[in-house]
Amino acid sequence: MKLPEPENKAAVVEAMFDRIAPRYDLMNRLMTFGLDRRWRHEAISALQAARGALVIDLGCGTGDLCAEAVRAGCRAVGVDFSARMLKIAASRQIACELIRADAGVLPLRDASADAVVSGFALRNFTDLAAVFRECSRVLRPSGKISFLEVDTPSAPLLRFGHRIFFNHVVPQIGKFVDRYAYAYLPSSVEYLPCEERLMEMLRAAGFRSLAKRRLMGGAVQLVTALR
Ligand SMILES: C[S@@+](CC[C@H](N)C(=O)[O-])C[C@H]1O[C@@H](n2cnc3c(N)ncnc32)[C@H](O)[C@@H]1O
Repeated sequence: MKLPEPENKAAVVEAMFDRIAPRYDLMNRLMTFGLDRRWRHEAISALQAARGALVIDLGCGTGDLCAEAVRAGCRAVGVDFSARMLKIAASRQIACELIRADAGVLPLRDASADAVVSGFALRNFTDLAAVFRECSRVLRPSGKISFLEVDTPSAPLLRFGHRIFFNHVVPQIGKFVDRYAYAYLPSSVEYLPCEERLMEMLRAAGFRSLAKRRLMGGAVQLVTALR
């Protein structure tokens, strides 16, 4: 499919998440066989955050990572630009703050957060470098990032199975919810910089101790770093 150009990407992505918001969680559970819960747990555990640490969740959607951060004893602030995703997050009554804002222009003070997390949102941001600079600005020195994203397995057999599932099965199931959104999902991987470039962008934004872990045979990546 043809992906949106940078000048209209934000509007297309926001409208798309507004449309699929009511079915988003159900589709996530189905498409990941419920494993997404485990990955979110890994993303928050990787922070090794102290009780009361302030965690910002960028592109928080319906609030799953915020909920996981709160379960771990942290304070959480979810940021998203989709009003309907935030409405669902709010309906879950997670003990966190929710802010409607663009991840590239955070309404948060410099050095105010202990950690920034993000679940499967990086490839949806229009200006990833700007988002990384914002992460760096709002984090205190030695603050942590922990980003989950989709990835492509490197082992040939897994790569083949993953391609069939992600590029063909997911859009077929997803078309019953929103044909465009679940065709966009596998195609949007094209927006993700390769590992080398991603690490270079994080370094340029002021991060160090960069690490990438592969989850589920490499279908998911967890990128962590220190401010
Ligand atoms: C794939 S969903 C992920 C939701 C949630 N983090 C999760 O793990 O289920 C991506 C989310 O990022 C949000 N998003 C995309 N671009 C954004 C931006 N520039 N600023 C704020 N939120 C954005 C979308 O509205 C959507 O809720």
